[in-house]
Amino acid sequence: MTVKEIFETMDYGPAPESAADALAWLVDMGDRFGCFIDGTFGSPGKTFLSKNPATGNVLAHLTQASADDVAAAVAAARKAQSKWAGDGHGRARVLYAIARLLQKNARLFSVLETLDNGKPIRESRDIDVPLAIRHFYHHAGYAQLMGSEMPGREALGVCGQIVPWNFPLLMLAWKIAPALAMGNTVVLKPAEYTSLTALLFADICRQAGVPKGVVNIVTGDGAVGEMLVAAEVDKIAFTGSTAVGRRIREATAGTGKALTLELGGKSPYIVFDDADLDSAIEGLVDAIWFNGGQVCCAGSRLLVQESIAGRFHEKLKARMDKLRIGDPLDKCIDVGAIVDPVQLDAIAALVDANTEGQTYRAAGSLPSQGCFYPPTLITGLSTSATLMQEEIFGPVLVSTTFRTPSEAVEIANNTRYGLAATLWSENVNLALDVAPRLAAGVVWINGTNMFDAAAPFGGVRESGFGREGGWEGLAAYTRLSGKATAIRRVAPFSGDGAPSDPLDRTAKLYVGGKQARPDGGYSTPVWGPKGALLGHVSKANRKDVRNAVEAMNAAAGWSRTTGHLRAQILYYLAENLAARDDDFARRIDAMTGKRSGGREVAAAVSRLFTYAAWADKFAGEAKGVPLKGMALALREPVGKIAALCPDEAPLLGLVSVIGPAMAMGNRITAVASEPFPLAATDFYQVLETSDVPGGVVNILTGAHEELAPTLADHLDLDAVWSFSGADLSGEIERRAAGNLKRTWVNHGRARDWIGPTGEGRAFLESATEIKTVWVPYGE
Ligand code: NAI
Repeated sequence: MTVKEIFETMDYGPAPESAADALAWLVDMGDRFGCFIDGTFGSPGKTFLSKNPATGNVLAHLTQASADDVAAAVAAARKAQSKWAGDGHGRARVLYAIARLLQKNARLFSVLETLDNGKPIRESRDIDVPLAIRHFYHHAGYAQLMGSEMPGREALGVCGQIVPWNFPLLMLAWKIAPALAMGNTVVLKPAEYTSLTALLFADICRQAGVPKGVVNIVTGDGAVGEMLVAAEVDKIAFTGSTAVGRRIREATAGTGKALTLELGGKSPYIVFDDADLDSAIEGLVDAIWFNGGQVCCAGSRLLVQESIAGRFHEKLKARMDKLRIGDPLDKCIDVGAIVDPVQLDAIAALVDANTEGQTYRAAGSLPSQGCFYPPTLITGLSTSATLMQEEIFGPVLVSTTFRTPSEAVEIANNTRYGLAATLWSENVNLALDVAPRLAAGVVWINGTNMFDAAAPFGGVRESGFGREGGWEGLAAYTRLSGKATAIRRVAPFSGDGAPSDPLDRTAKLYVGGKQARPDGGYSTPVWGPKGALLGHVSKANRKDVRNAVEAMNAAAGWSRTTGHLRAQILYYLAENLAARDDDFARRIDAMTGKRSGGREVAAAVSRLFTYAAWADKFAGEAKGVPLKGMALALREPVGKIAALCPDEAPLLGLVSVIGPAMAMGNRITAVASEPFPLAATDFYQVLETSDVPGGVVNILTGAHEELAPTLADHLDLDAVWSFSGADLSGEIERRAAGNLKRTWVNHGRARDWIGPTGEGRAFLESATEIKTVWVPYGE
């Protein structure tokens, strides 16, 4: 095309990026890659092909790692770990060196990424690679600061990390940078379609002075991922599909391995009638056609206010027709190739199966070969339509309308996912009113798909748990230091003594602010240490759990109260407990046979003060992101929590779980200490006199082993905590995979209920979810 023709048509001429250096690197490496273990590339084993999805050309032969490879990688990581963890400044220097080398080789990484994944070079060059570089710079700082800013925390050990194919280098950076910063060593498995930048990164590690064994890369498909999950690692960090995330939750259940899951989404993109429509259209291009829609947080569900829907859709179609689709190495291309024929077929199958609504495809022509799918808009779908609910993971936008902001919130939240949401409005009041009501880990206001190393990213509901980025992301790569001691199981006393009191003393359950008879009608005797009958407690069953969850649902208003109000109620609760301290102390001593009741009650009163203090102070942070805006990492309540209380410390154990849950705005159902339940049942009266709204705290009594499965299975609970003396970690984690509810189980690790590990930030963090709200700010 001549310059004159270009001026006449105003068409873009092609601006191809050369692939020569990237292809030369592949040739230099011999085109056949072994795994990168203990600082060296091993010889290739059984191999599979890595192809360029835009052309179908073979790029390299990659090794399908064997069980021996995985074991060797984990062993190398284990051997290197303690020395690596010992020197924060040394780690900072290495991470900084990695950042510098990534920067120096940025173009090579970008081209290789585009060749391997099919994403436009503009994206890999301007987004993926710069964000990966920023991640290493930012985390070099955390390595430096860990010693002074994170006292009492230490590395987990060896982390197994599994990443998907949509952002191969960026996801690697999100995984490796924080793990290394905190003193862990890693074994990372890239996705089978896109392993090349991970292998180039391994090459960079050698140049950056990363000690042998600190970073290991094993290539291969899901079978290798499974081997890594089963290996002797201390943590699995996974990004990928919800189905595989669920399997990993089940596979790691009860092993004590830490787990974070960053899974799928069906994120709403909400356009209000007062939005700047042209900006909202450009935002939408970034929301759903960035990386061909193969983005976990893609704004794939358009919700547009009814009054502007017609005009908005027309503008959108016109914009779609201008999208340039084709050779990803061409710098003028907007939409590149889909990663692999398998994914292309999956997208086509989902769209072709749809019979509802109207489908509009962008006018731009598709290349005659390679994996390409046209940008697509489907309007007129019902909210329950498969395409409105299922993640398509391709350049396909579905659209619906709403009339009022409340209806927008309702439709937005009508999904099992909760990764991200975008709001478009010129009215700051409206945007900031709607943002807190959205079930999403990330909310973007008048912008979309913004990411930064300082801003936590992650989801709620079935989009997974854990955060990546910011101080908050580091928690997932550390634990409390110190030696763990086994949690104590306390057997109940038995006896045959007569009741000291002729009156029937069967404590009921406490549900919805009222004492409730157990559904099953059964009770259990509680014996003192000398065999005296102290009373009976109710045996809660599945129905009672259901009622407690319903009561928590009815108390949803608690989650919208202010921290100030919650603080007042917690102080009042403490005061009312203190007023009855002698009764409680006597009760505890009678149950346990010890003389520690007085001390325990005093500690419980103090603990309630602690959480009253925190109620309006554990709120979040503003993050300084290098964009025109700021990211507010806000703390929201998890929602509805069920907690199995520790066997020992019958009152303090209860207070230790309800305190943080209440302070952070959750509703909680606590299952009392199994051997010593009577302090919890006495506590009803304190709750009743302290203005705690009905349903905010519910207390059940009964066998932990029987109740734990019901709680972990319950699809309408958001989290299960267990400090029970019964070893229920495995069962709870496995069953929690159903709705991917959060679990906090102790894996037999004891807490000193009176001491500092019985309260504080760990509890507050477990009682909250981070919502990162990106707002425009500054010049
Ligand atoms: P996937 O979840 O199967 O793959 C992600 C990673 O997990 C890859 O490295 C894969 O090798 C590994 N893996 C697969 N099975 C495993 C197992 N049993 N144990 C351990 N690791 C395992 O995702 P896939 O098949 O590549 O894509 C399927 C769908 O998943 C997509 O259509 C999309 O809907 C969704 N997806 C979501 C992503 C996200 O970021 N949320 C990323 C990639 C895919």
